[in-house]
Amino acid sequence: MKIVLSLGGSVLMSDFPKCNKMRAFAEEVELISNEHDVFVVVGGGKIARDYIQAARASGANNTLCDSIGIEVTRLNAMLFSTYIDSSPKEVPKTFERAVELSKLWNVVVMGGTFPGHTTDATAALLAEYVNADVMLNATSVNGVYSSDPKKDARALRYEKLTPEQLVEIVAKGELKAGSSNVLDLLAAKIIERSKIRTIIFLGEPGNIIKVVKGEFKEIGTLIEP
Ligand code: UTP
Repeated sequence: MKIVLSLGGSVLMSDFPKCNKMRAFAEEVELISNEHDVFVVVGGGKIARDYIQAARASGANNTLCDSIGIEVTRLNAMLFSTYIDSSPKEVPKTFERAVELSKLWNVVVMGGTFPGHTTDATAALLAEYVNADVMLNATSVNGVYSSDPKKDARALRYEKLTPEQLVEIVAKGELKAGSSNVLDLLAAKIIERSKIRTIIFLGEPGNIIKVVKGEFKEIGTLIEP
């Protein structure tokens, strides 16, 4: 299978600079890359949000804040690649370069691309570009809920959604630099237009392998037409 894995920065970098989680995720990615072609798109997490907040305080506009966020995602991607033997020590800035690198390496790790969205959308666009069989989105919750489960105790978790239903749920969220939503709207729209099979799941060590094996009922939501 061709797999695009979106690893949210808040998931990957939560114990930075210890990076025990990063090491654990890297081991899983390396294991699955023995049988599958893997592209990983890494998010920015708290570090990106802090940078964006500081830039916003200086009067920087949203595009500039996004560009700063992108640089942080690339920094995280470079760090993650140092934990993976079978990945190049180069973070591609374009999908074209990512494909070139994938011809030589089992795992290609990249960050963001251009302003206006988050790395979820980068991952969806990459999944579209490489005709991925599946996109895996590791996030801080165990799937898609009817509303934010951290704020609303009555939020309902979905086991399965169509891309159209996903777009409807995600459209209620906000789109600005550094904002947090289970997935960004552009990502949902790309998933919808290209009918990309997607699993949005809790990004804890051990879960990537479970999801690849199809054991995601309890830890994620399947998006399928
Ligand atoms: P993230 O993908 O990390 O956003 O990109 P996030 O919603 O904070 O996700 P988590 O918390 O890591 O899971 C960080 C910021 O970088 C900019 C956006 O401003 C985004 O909020 N960015 C990132 C872009 O503008 N374009 C990209 O392709 C990627």
